[in-house]
Amino acid sequence: MRKKAFLFLMTVALLLAVAIPAMGAVEDTGFADVDAGAWYADAVEYCRDNSLMNGTTDTAFEPEAAMTRAMLATVLYHAAGSPQVAAASPFTDVAEGSWYADAAVWAQQNNVISGYGGGLFGTDDPVTREQIATMLWNYENSPSAERGSDFADEGAISSYASTAVDWARAEGIVNGKEGNRFDPQGNATRAEVAAMLLNYMSKNNSAAPAPDPESTSAAGIGTKILVAYFSATGNTRPLAEYVSDALDAELYEIIPEIPYTAADLNYGDSSSRATVEMNDPSARPAISGSVENMEEYDVVFLGYPIWWGQAPRIVGTFLESYDLSGKTIVPFCTSGSSGIGSSAMDLHDLASGADWLSGQRFSSGTSRSAMVNWINGLDLGVTAE
Ligand SMILES: Cc1cc2nc3c(=O)[nH]c(=O)nc-3n(C[C@H](O)[C@H](O)[C@H](O)COP(=O)(O)O)c2cc1C
Repeated sequence: MRKKAFLFLMTVALLLAVAIPAMGAVEDTGFADVDAGAWYADAVEYCRDNSLMNGTTDTAFEPEAAMTRAMLATVLYHAAGSPQVAAASPFTDVAEGSWYADAAVWAQQNNVISGYGGGLFGTDDPVTREQIATMLWNYENSPSAERGSDFADEGAISSYASTAVDWARAEGIVNGKEGNRFDPQGNATRAEVAAMLLNYMSKNNSAAPAPDPESTSAAGIGTKILVAYFSATGNTRPLAEYVSDALDAELYEIIPEIPYTAADLNYGDSSSRATVEMNDPSARPAISGSVENMEEYDVVFLGYPIWWGQAPRIVGTFLESYDLSGKTIVPFCTSGSSGIGSSAMDLHDLASGADWLSGQRFSSGTSRSAMVNWINGLDLGVTAE
């Protein structure tokens, strides 16, 4: 149910309100109420094509309608790939089975939108500009932000939203309106939210302002994932491929500059290359090639075989080749029978600025669906399909 009472026109002001990246001209938005020349036409088209926002009917988008909290929760929930929600809604104003019920629970559980307290979600309440900045900031895991120059109405920004607004402005997600006003308690319209989402996605993927829909829905809004793996005898490879495929993520194989021969891998021979390397913690076998644009990735899945209870030394070469600070690393391994043991923990010092999730061991031949289940059980905010 939309609240017509919240309809209002902001066209001229919004021309200055939101920075929209240059995109191709829109020929036909498919919505009777979104003119191809409108300032938000690119954003509406982008959100529609990426299944972030639908029309309110088949032919209407209602660009000037207020965005309610239920609507925004649903947009972000779609962007996260609509993961399954196990718990029942704790909110008394969220109707069971309603179109936004899962989204509201998901948003609350993932600290994206907190309820009002007292069991209320605020379902039909319009989202203000400072609230949406805060929600996107929450979605981004509350990064720190440098204080920029003040808005003319800086003092009107609620304290809970202060860092979020600084962040959103610094990232070009939202700019001031005429007179350098942020208008923190002004309602965000559907057109404005579409533009903010486009800006947000562009920030996370500047080379591609309109990422393909599968990648957007599978990996969650703005999350860029790399699956890097080493596989000497081919057991770890298919598992890495499953992860990459299920998340629509880039796949990178750690290939030794000098390939391992069968003799090199003979763990029964105390003088074999693998044995000698594993006996030397400082060994760093060279890698052929490298990951381009490592700085763009947020999450790195790292697959390897267990060698003598450890990750092969070449995994150390990989980790020490990049600045992985701030990235989330998700280790996984295959082995004959050993568990993951301390193999992943022992890698932490080689990328100490990263956020390491506890790893998982799999046997060779593990199915794709088992890998998908594992990924979806991680608290990553991404959905494998
Ligand atoms: C040098 C070497 C050492 C190994 N050490 C162990 C071990 O300690 N525990 C274990 O369960 N498997 C061990 N394995 C078996 C591998 O972990 C297992 O076959 C793994 O699935 C290989 O993965 P890959 O084909 O991706 O290289 C070892 C294999 C090699 C070659």
